[in-house]
Amino acid sequence: MNDYLIAPSILSANFAKLGEEVDNVLEAGADVVHFDVMDNHYVPNLTIGPMVCKALRDHGVTAPIDVHLMVSPVDAIIGDFIDAGASYITFHPEATNHVDRSLQLIKAGGCKAGLVFNPHTSLDYAKYVTDKLDIILLMSVNPGFGGQAFIPAVLDKAKEARKLIDEAGIDCRLQIDGGVKVDNIKEVAEAGVDMMVAGSAILKEPRTMEAYKETIDAMRA
Ligand code: DX5
Ligand code: ZN
Repeated sequence: MNDYLIAPSILSANFAKLGEEVDNVLEAGADVVHFDVMDNHYVPNLTIGPMVCKALRDHGVTAPIDVHLMVSPVDAIIGDFIDAGASYITFHPEATNHVDRSLQLIKAGGCKAGLVFNPHTSLDYAKYVTDKLDIILLMSVNPGFGGQAFIPAVLDKAKEARKLIDEAGIDCRLQIDGGVKVDNIKEVAEAGVDMMVAGSAILKEPRTMEAYKETIDAMRA
């Protein structure tokens, strides 16, 4: 496993060719497939659900699938994603009534679990559940859409989250999502982040494996 994980968000993929897009981005060196689930309720957009996750597994995708739930409520859909082959499942703590229970449901299904913090959400939500966290995901945009501008205040929050993880002594990835590009990824890494989601920076025209590789290589460098 790489020290820094690159997780392209398939929100920016050409959905008419999703299998091919995922194959290309993995062949280009991506570590993880970031899978954005939006319900037009918790966030003002609607995307894909467990059936599409299962379709990617049936298509032959063996890489970890990182399911980012932007849905409310949370618990009812967790089992479906476990059955569909999710590897990581993360959710927004304010979108569920019982954060600890939702984390337990994910872990009981054999998936890695994590909490997602919007730009305004306090890290306090993590404090009493650190033993159940495999990922802390910091949103560096307001959730709902790809292609938004990175919110720089999240860099201080990342340092705070890194401290929280290190002090708790847990094996937990610090992930960032939103507006990550080749030209800001170094700053992000220096703030303590070790799992980078990037959608529009990677999955763009000309949509070839070679072009994806060029961006991923530049990010890693
Ligand atoms: C936004 C999603 C992100 C998004 C990132 O709600 O969670 O994963 O696709 O896209 P970019 O990298 O374009 O900001
Ligand atoms: Zn996401």
